[in-house]
Amino acid sequence: MLTWDDEVTPTPSKSVSSGLQSNRQPTVPIPQPALRTLDDGAVAPAAPVATQPAARIPAGSAQSNSARRVAAADKRIINGQTDVNQLVPFKYKWAWEKYLATCANHWMPQEINMNRDIALWKDPNGLSEDERRIIKRNLGFFVTADSLAANNIVLGTYRHITAPECRQFLLRQAFEEAIHTHAYQYIVESLGLDEAEIFNAYHEVQAIRDKDEFLIPFIDGIMDPAFHTGTPEADQRLLKSLIVFACLMEGLFFYVGFTQILALGRQNKMTGAAEQYQYILRDESMHCNFGIDLINQIKLENPHLWTAEFKAEIKALFLKAVELEYRYAEDTMPRGVLGLNASMFKGYLRYIANRRATQIGLEALFPNEENPFPWMSEMIDLKKERNFFETRVIEYQTGGALSWD
Ligand SMILES: [Fe+2]
Ligand SMILES: [Fe+2]
Repeated sequence: MLTWDDEVTPTPSKSVSSGLQSNRQPTVPIPQPALRTLDDGAVAPAAPVATQPAARIPAGSAQSNSARRVAAADKRIINGQTDVNQLVPFKYKWAWEKYLATCANHWMPQEINMNRDIALWKDPNGLSEDERRIIKRNLGFFVTADSLAANNIVLGTYRHITAPECRQFLLRQAFEEAIHTHAYQYIVESLGLDEAEIFNAYHEVQAIRDKDEFLIPFIDGIMDPAFHTGTPEADQRLLKSLIVFACLMEGLFFYVGFTQILALGRQNKMTGAAEQYQYILRDESMHCNFGIDLINQIKLENPHLWTAEFKAEIKALFLKAVELEYRYAEDTMPRGVLGLNASMFKGYLRYIANRRATQIGLEALFPNEENPFPWMSEMIDLKKERNFFETRVIEYQTGGALSWD
C-alpha cells in the first residue's frame, strides 16, 4: 500500500490498453519547428529561440517550468517547450473559443423525455422489423464507440498535445464522450433492450467489429506508454491517429447511424432517441471541426510531416473507411427502409469523405459527389430546426433551464 510520502516508481507494462500507464516523456531535446503560427492563422518564421532547453519538459508536471515566463509565440501544438499548466497567454484562440462553444451546448441525456419512444417500442405494431434492426444496430455500434473515443482522448491524444488551450477543449470533449455513452445506455435502458446483446455487438456483429478493428491500432499506437512524439516518424504517427479519429471516426463512421435515427425522428418515430442523437451530432460536429483545426495547425507548424507518401497513406485510409462504413450501411439496411437504402449511403459517404479530405488539405477523393441528404446539414445547426421533433427542449444553453410541463 502506498502512502502520500512514498515515491512512485513507474513499472513497465506489456499492455497498452489498460490505461494505467505512466506519463513519461522523452528526455532528448526537441528541435524547434521552423514555422510559427500567428493568432490570425498566418505563418511567420520561427522566433529565435534564446536557449535550447536542456531536456524535454514533462508535459504534465507541476515542476515542468523554467523561471522564464511563457510567451504565446513559443507555444506549439506538439513538442512544445512551454509550461502546459499555464492556459494563458493564449495563442490558439480558436481552441479556446471552441471550448466555450461546447460548454454553451451542455445537455444531459435524462433531461430528454423518452415516454413516446418507450410506448412505440413496446407496441407490437409500432415499428417494422427493419426499423427495429436499425435501432439495435445503431446502439450496438455507439454504446462502445464513444468509450473508444473517450479513451483515445484521455489515454492517448491528451498527453501528446502541448498547447493548454487545446488540452482544455480535449477535457471538455472527453466529458461529452461520457455524456454520449450515457445517452446510448439511457436509450438501451429506457427501451428495455437486451443489454448483453447491444453492448457485445462490437464483438459479435461483423460490420461493427470491422470498423472498430480499423480504429483500434491508431488508438493503441498513441496510448502505448513507450510512444512519444519528437521524431518525424512519431509525429506522423500521432498526426495519422488524429486524422483517423477526427475525419474518419467522428467525421465519417458516425454518419450512417446519425442519418438513420434522425430519419426515424423526421417520420415522428423514436423522437426522444432522435433528439438525443441530434444533440450528439451537434457535439460531434464540433469535435470533428476542432480535430480538423488541430490537424491543420500541426501541419502549419510541422510542414515536413506532410509528405507525398504520408498523403497517399491517408488517402488509402479514407478509401478503406468509406468501404467499411458502406458495409455497415448494407448490414443495417438489408432492404430499403424510411425512404433510405444502402446505395444512397454510398453517395453520402463519398460526399462526406470529400469534405473531410479537402478540410485537411487533400484533394477530393470522389469528384462531383452531391449530398443526397441535405437535411442532415441543417440538423447539425439546431437553430434551423427549432421544434423539429415537436418536443420542448431545443437549443438550450444549460440543462437547468429545462421543463416538461
Ligand atoms: Fe461522442
Ligand atoms: Fe466525439
